[in-house]
Amino acid sequence: MLRHPGRIIILLMGMALLPGQLSAAATAEVNNPTVNEASRINANNTANPPIECPLRKQGINPHELKPFAETQKYIDFLERSDRATWQKPDAVITELHLSGNEKIADVGAGSGYFTFRFARAVPEGTVYAIDIEPEMLRHIHHKAMTGGIRNISVIKSTPDNPAVPPGVDLVFVCDVLHHVKEPEAWLKKLSMQIKKGARLAVIEFREGDLPEGPPAAVKIPKKKLIAMFTENNFKLEAEKPEILPYQEFLIFVKP
Ligand SMILES: C[S@@+](CC[C@H](N)C(=O)[O-])C[C@H]1O[C@@H](n2cnc3c(N)ncnc32)[C@H](O)[C@@H]1O
Repeated sequence: MLRHPGRIIILLMGMALLPGQLSAAATAEVNNPTVNEASRINANNTANPPIECPLRKQGINPHELKPFAETQKYIDFLERSDRATWQKPDAVITELHLSGNEKIADVGAGSGYFTFRFARAVPEGTVYAIDIEPEMLRHIHHKAMTGGIRNISVIKSTPDNPAVPPGVDLVFVCDVLHHVKEPEAWLKKLSMQIKKGARLAVIEFREGDLPEGPPAAVKIPKKKLIAMFTENNFKLEAEKPEILPYQEFLIFVKP
């Protein structure tokens, strides 16, 4: 048996063990107070602290989430390769004229389709991926950690609270508003959560018979969409009708 700092490597040397079964020697090693003490000290090492799970910090037990495979279908749907032909994520981000150090809240981030692109666009800034589905946040956090992306933080919100952290420069809401049960009340809260001068970019599917998008019954007509924002203290700064073939792309500012 070899002992390495903070972990144990068991050489089985021809012994047949059932999965999950430890040899007597390994059991003794695991119970060895010297080893346990070593890992306890390691866990308290401030120079090299253990990675804290942001979901756990927000009161969610990652072990209670749906299996990865169940969420993967929705992730695959949002990330499907042909989406870029009409969603035009690069053109959308270009239109936002970012400086590279902004704090951005991607509210209803889903799989992080825009989150990761924003993270590249603001290398000196931060992107908050916010969603009501912890499984989507687990996916984003896992992808960010394994990709070495350090400027993404995940935030679990609730259906009636956008949960945008203070100091955000841009709120981005793509294909989310038609999912929100009480959008007026939600926008009222959102308006109170953001600072003066912050921008809000919203993308929602246009009315009409289109090859992409949700059923007509849930679509929000453009006039109503604009009214929902202006009634909640947002000023329409720009309309971008030429960028996306199937969606409205509107930019508001909080005066
Ligand atoms: C169609 S997906 C869009 C995801 C992403 N914005 C994109 O463009 O790929 C809608 C997302 O909104 C989230 N959502 C639904 N209601 C929400 C709410 N009240 N607050 C925040 N997110 C919500 C869902 O969990 C889902 O991940």
